[in-house]
Amino acid sequence: MKYIRGISIKNYRVLRDVSIGSVTPSPNPHDNMQLPFHSGDPLMPLTVVIGRNGYGKSTLCDAFGFIGDCLRSNTEHACTLRGCFDDIVSTGQSKQEDRKLEFQILYDNILYTLCIASDKYNIPYVYAETLSHINPAFNNSNSMNFFASNGEGKVVRSDSESVSDIKLADPRRLVLSTLGNLNQFPDIVKFRQFLDNWYLCYFKPDAARSTPLIGSQRHLNSTGTNLANVIQFWENEHKDRLDLLLNSVIKPILEITRIETKPTEDGRLLLRFFKSDNNRPFYAPQMSDGTLKLVAYMFLLGDPDPPPFICFEEPENGLYHKLLGTFINEIRKHCSQNNGSQFFITTHQPYLVDALKPEEVWILEKGNDGFASVKRASEDTIVRNMVAEGMPLGALWFSEYLDAFDENN
Ligand SMILES: Nc1ncnc2c1ncn2[C@@H]1O[C@H](COP(=O)(O)OP(=O)(O)OP(=O)(O)O)[C@@H](O)[C@H]1O
Ligand SMILES: [Mg+2]
Repeated sequence: MKYIRGISIKNYRVLRDVSIGSVTPSPNPHDNMQLPFHSGDPLMPLTVVIGRNGYGKSTLCDAFGFIGDCLRSNTEHACTLRGCFDDIVSTGQSKQEDRKLEFQILYDNILYTLCIASDKYNIPYVYAETLSHINPAFNNSNSMNFFASNGEGKVVRSDSESVSDIKLADPRRLVLSTLGNLNQFPDIVKFRQFLDNWYLCYFKPDAARSTPLIGSQRHLNSTGTNLANVIQFWENEHKDRLDLLLNSVIKPILEITRIETKPTEDGRLLLRFFKSDNNRPFYAPQMSDGTLKLVAYMFLLGDPDPPPFICFEEPENGLYHKLLGTFINEIRKHCSQNNGSQFFITTHQPYLVDALKPEEVWILEKGNDGFASVKRASEDTIVRNMVAEGMPLGALWFSEYLDAFDENN
């Protein structure tokens, strides 16, 4: 399975210099950033981040969203969606040359770096961007690398036989968006598609209670307004899959025997739920927040063509604590499938952490400078040994083995 092995972030709000997983220095001699990123063991298919309020969990998730927004539109738009460049760049960087947002992603064999600065009019633009195959021995010689600065750069074949110049008309746009749409660069296209399709879940039960216009849709959107459309898609295209999901997952945990859509006269789609002891349908506005949330999660996990990377922010909110283990088990099943996704989750819930391994859990802390730092639970020998002896990780967290709680802090 191809997945993100590590990510480094610099100067993104409270994340002034944070790395998780394995991120190696770029082998690209033209990489003019030469960021001193750290290396470590790669991320697992499931990564969970914990930490106190304001320590940067949502910021980490938003950094994924920010990169996706830069890719789909441009750096200026991605910043405008979040205020402006000055709001985003970590506070306290007085020198202009230090005021740069930097990201490095190691995805399978591809190392991608992106550095964004603001120009004299305070417009954010791509200061530098590189993509390199880190282990050329495993690539075919047609693998393409690129590097660019201020919209100008080169595309280089891995065997260095072919080099071409590139010049972008708009320095706010990523080279990755442009080259990642050209069939002659299949590796770059796949990486661009990976970033383009990562899914950040900001599910809102009220959004799923709305009655959307009729029309089946393949994928759940980030807030869940199209849950009924996705279920209509399953009814039309994946009836067996729908029955299996209902009987094997949804019925045992939620006591719902049937979910169906019903078109209205004015062209909208109602979502109806049937419970085992009752033949009268309940409509989405009558269903509880937690029920709608779990149903949406299950349709997301059951997507026949799932997003490659799924990020959940505090999925436990509104869910019965004993269902969290079931939720993590469903995620594990999903990770082990052939086209399974990689998961990134933030949580405040020890019950959820109980179902995890120490290598899967990262703890955000705050240094004396007020910026976040991060450590992996498995780095602590005592934690590793206690888990090996059967102590659940969430219980260790509760007992302050993962992050000591200082009330004065
Ligand atoms: N430009 C910036 N530079 C430095 N810190 C910033 C910047 N912008 C926001 N912050 C800080 O980042 C923190 C917000 O972090 P975030 O929302 O990611 O926390 P969290 O871990 O998700 O917290 P919670 O558990 O409450 O959801 C706040 O303390 C905020 O003051
Ligand atoms: Mg948060």
